[in-house]
Amino acid sequence: MAVLRNDFIWGAATAAHQIEGNNVNADFWVAEHAGLPHLREPSGDACDSYHRYREDIRLLAEAGLKAYRFSIEWARIEPERDQFSRAELLHYRDMIDACHEHGVTPVVTLHHFTSPRWFSQAGGFTGPDAVERFSRYVAAVCPILHDVEWIVTVNEPNILALFSRMTAAPDAKTEGESEAAGSEAAASDETATVAMAQMPTPSLDFAAAIAQVHRAAVQILRERTNAKVGWAIAAQAFTPTEGNEAVFEEVFHAWEGAYYEASEGDDFVGIQAYTSQPVGPDGPVPHPPSDDNTLTGWAYRPDALGLNIARVWEKYRLPIFVTENGIATDDDARRIAYTTGALQGLKDAVAAGAEVLGYTHWSLLDNYEWGSYAPTFGLIAVNRSGDFERTPKPSLAWLGRVAASHGENLS
Ligand code: BGC
Repeated sequence: MAVLRNDFIWGAATAAHQIEGNNVNADFWVAEHAGLPHLREPSGDACDSYHRYREDIRLLAEAGLKAYRFSIEWARIEPERDQFSRAELLHYRDMIDACHEHGVTPVVTLHHFTSPRWFSQAGGFTGPDAVERFSRYVAAVCPILHDVEWIVTVNEPNILALFSRMTAAPDAKTEGESEAAGSEAAASDETATVAMAQMPTPSLDFAAAIAQVHRAAVQILRERTNAKVGWAIAAQAFTPTEGNEAVFEEVFHAWEGAYYEASEGDDFVGIQAYTSQPVGPDGPVPHPPSDDNTLTGWAYRPDALGLNIARVWEKYRLPIFVTENGIATDDDARRIAYTTGALQGLKDAVAAGAEVLGYTHWSLLDNYEWGSYAPTFGLIAVNRSGDFERTPKPSLAWLGRVAASHGENLS
């Protein structure tokens, strides 16, 4: 008997700011142009998917994948406070239609790290009217979501908790934050992006604030759509080093537990797993430099996915959707090897009882990795210095074959 459920969903994921290009009304666009040392290059045209999404969806479908997770960009829908763009709503509606035309299930994220400039300037998710502002955006989008089955309200709220610190100008930081920002910049010399262990611990106040935003969005979506609704958490597979179990508990709660707890009552929780993170006496321990590290400087840990699924299922009994998993590498054979290991871990966790609904690989395209194009996560390469030509890598067809075998054949 097959390990995975019959209706298990196989697909790939992207996010608007990372692939669309010229997302000029978003807060991250502003940060990209503020000369911050750890944001090495601006997103610019990205993959020009704002215009080429039909081709992206076609390539995904032709490979045999059945789901496309993408995000709707709030900064396009509401570029100025209370000014909603019908044209942009229709643009995203056409993306949903394109998915359906290709027999692809859209998995729609409503917020993937970027917010409109005006919202961030007014305090973002900890600002006084965040729940109301985000709710108005969600309500504005509902009419195009009537036949969407899967909606993720917020992508990685536990990393978003740190985004405002990562994108603030140095003089806007408090003393403690400046120190953390310093090590972020130092990390960026060796690795292309900010290493998780160099980030400050996300604040529980932020967790409480964003949980309210999420709960309000879930309620609106339940009233106005037929979708299954959840949010997607960055799962770090934290493991305590000897004698540091108490620190581990604290770290786990601040980074993840608070967010899983706020998922109670949702239809699923998205988990996004890349690597595992040891916890020492002072918190997460940076991954030591190693030839084995990925292009983001993270330890090569295909087992992280299975570890996270098993843990989340055991602790919270929430149905799990693996909304992201992948590797930054320029060696596509390594991508296949990593993903094979990760999917084996997923299957083992399911065999042991976890309820897992689907898997969308990060990422469909080589894209803008929040400050740099160097770490390539894509199943498809994009010629960004030419005509944006897409070149599928062997891993795309491989994942399509895995999907066709219902996950039975990982070789
Ligand atoms: C995010 C993506 C990001 C990926 C790899 C996740 O944290 O949701 O936007 O590109 O991991 O770093």
